[in-house]
Amino acid sequence: MLELIEPSVKYQASFLDALSEYRSLGEPHHAYDDLAEDNFQNFLFRLEQDSRGEFIAEGKVPQSFFWLVDSGLYIGRVAIRHKLNDKLRRVGGHIGYTIRPSERQKGYGKKILKMALPKARGLGLVRALVTCDETNVASRKIIESCGGVLEDAMVIANTGKAKLRFWIDLNDVI
Ligand SMILES: CC(C)(COP(=O)(O)OP(=O)(O)OC[C@H]1O[C@@H](n2cnc3c(N)ncnc32)[C@H](O)[C@@H]1OP(=O)(O)O)[C@@H](O)C(=O)NCCC(=O)NCCS
Repeated sequence: MLELIEPSVKYQASFLDALSEYRSLGEPHHAYDDLAEDNFQNFLFRLEQDSRGEFIAEGKVPQSFFWLVDSGLYIGRVAIRHKLNDKLRRVGGHIGYTIRPSERQKGYGKKILKMALPKARGLGLVRALVTCDETNVASRKIIESCGGVLEDAMVIANTGKAKLRFWIDLNDVI
């Protein structure tokens, strides 16, 4: 069964397997992931603190994490930022997601964003900014499949690459 759940110790082994996949491909991972390998309970506690807005570092905002799981397997994760700052308004937006490498191109990317929208609505957002690299064809398709409307393309100074910025209206999301 496909579910979008709060991070849970139940998926520790599967989550750590997914981290190994990211590492072996040299893909960027989240700042807290090292903690997951050292002390999983502390890692989960840190995620909870972020979602409660406790001990938020300078320049960061509160965010809630959800995991996509399918029949006992960790598939991917989504972070929903409760508000934007200047950086997120340019890059990152309200919602960021990733599917573990071994489970890509099976439709999970579209599902994780779709399933994240009611969670974003539940956090009080009425519209969500979602960004992706202009070259990220899969992510663009995912955002558009969820009703994303292109606002603009911004060239990011330090990379020279264009970021697409989409807004998704959450008013009708239940
Ligand atoms: C982007 C990402 C989330 C896509 O996840 P996914 O589970 O493979 O996506 P889906 O299977 O739902 O595919 C969505 C669409 O993109 C297409 N697609 C998927 N991977 C693709 C690829 N590498 N190249 C071109 N198209 C691709 C799919 O065919 C599908 O197209 P369709 O709508 O025409 O059927 C995943 O590649 C990932 O986690 N990448 C790293 C992190 C990232 O880029 N996150 C997004 C940040 S904005």
